[in-house]
Amino acid sequence: MSFLNLAKERFSTRDFLTKPVEEDKLLEILEAARISPSAVNRQPWHFVVVRDENLKEKIVEAYPRDWFAKAPVFIVACGDHTESWKRDDGKDYCDIDISIAVTHIMLAATDLGLGTCFVGAFDVDKCRQALKLPKHLEPIALIPLGYPAKKDSTKRFNTRRKALSEIVHYDGFDSNIKEQ
Ligand SMILES: Cc1cc2nc3c(=O)[nH]c(=O)nc-3n(C[C@H](O)[C@H](O)[C@H](O)COP(=O)(O)O)c2cc1C
Repeated sequence: MSFLNLAKERFSTRDFLTKPVEEDKLLEILEAARISPSAVNRQPWHFVVVRDENLKEKIVEAYPRDWFAKAPVFIVACGDHTESWKRDDGKDYCDIDISIAVTHIMLAATDLGLGTCFVGAFDVDKCRQALKLPKHLEPIALIPLGYPAKKDSTKRFNTRRKALSEIVHYDGFDSNIKEQ
């Protein structure tokens, strides 16, 4: 599959089958996260894989949605702000590094026929407590992982994304691209 087709196949999966995720597929997805690029190669991340039902219930308390609870695996992507690179103006690249790694996870999962969703709107304190995270680690994304119950159409990109003409600027911000 071409990269663009793979990227279009990915969608935020909000309905999962109970079918378990095979160990080799999980490892391949985690390997995709491991090789992700990061600012100054600091790799300021930890990935907590949650499959234990009791622990899953505690994570669901941090993001109480039925569809989320149905995923057989959660990956919690955590950032280490003590390791992440800071630019001269103080900007911390931790969230950016984690987001790129999560993108690797989502695309690798898609490639293997699995579904994911980047979940950011969760209760950080509840997640921290459930995983007993040390203070220097921030849970940044919850990623439910499993087989999708149904697919989303790639046609959604025709309407649910801005047009290139709205977002691309050549040779400076004011010059818009020509209509094609
Ligand atoms: C940083 C980030 C945070 C997100 N947080 C949530 C979330 O908390 N809950 C959710 O259902 N979807 C969440 N999403 C998924 C977006 O809603 C979704 O990517 C967007 O609507 C586009 O749809 P698509 O992923 O199916 O192409 C998040 C996505 C990103 C990139």
